[in-house]
Amino acid sequence: MMQCGPEFDSPPFGWVGIEDLLGDFRARIDGEVKQIVELGVYWGYSLFCWSKMYPHAKVIGIDSYLMHDAIEAQEHVMKYMAASYPNVQLIIGDTQDTFHMVDGPIDILHIDASHRYDNVKADYELWSRKVRPGGVIFIHDIKSDANVGTFFNEIQGNKDSFPECNGMGAVFV
Ligand SMILES: C[S@@+](CC[C@H](N)C(=O)[O-])C[C@H]1O[C@@H](n2cnc3c(N)ncnc32)[C@H](O)[C@@H]1O
Repeated sequence: MMQCGPEFDSPPFGWVGIEDLLGDFRARIDGEVKQIVELGVYWGYSLFCWSKMYPHAKVIGIDSYLMHDAIEAQEHVMKYMAASYPNVQLIIGDTQDTFHMVDGPIDILHIDASHRYDNVKADYELWSRKVRPGGVIFIHDIKSDANVGTFFNEIQGNKDSFPECNGMGAVFV
């Protein structure tokens, strides 16, 4: 089983179970995973999980880093990227403004930036355009956040949800 790296003593609140979830999920993604994009990085727990689970993929994290502990969080991510996660890139900026900076196709998209209904919807509608057929879009916090859950329930198509990590939704493209 994948473990937390040296950068975290234990999974932060909201991430308990992600290692098992991603491990179990691997077989359900069609084709090779070459590029993963995460919207919303914060201290990097899920970003580093993607990196560990898919060490041969390019893993791109995008965050505007405007919160109160932005400097510390950004420094933490950059320190451990350099030390242990060579396949990770960090883009500092708004999820809507940085879309042009990432070339498709995306094999896995993880939406975990702003949890406001309009913003989750906007991130999904914009970024899903670059996810390839057979790829997957994960949406975090569908159980713990009513806005995110409402939006996930409205999505039409082939999807599944998991109780781990405060509720993780998956949409199969
Ligand atoms: C829930 S946290 C992400 C948690 C992270 N995935 C983890 O593993 O801990 C949400 C993050 O999204 C970022 N964020 C919120 N709105 C954003 C936006 N419009 N553009 C870019 N980043 C945004 C915040 O700065 C914050 O770091």
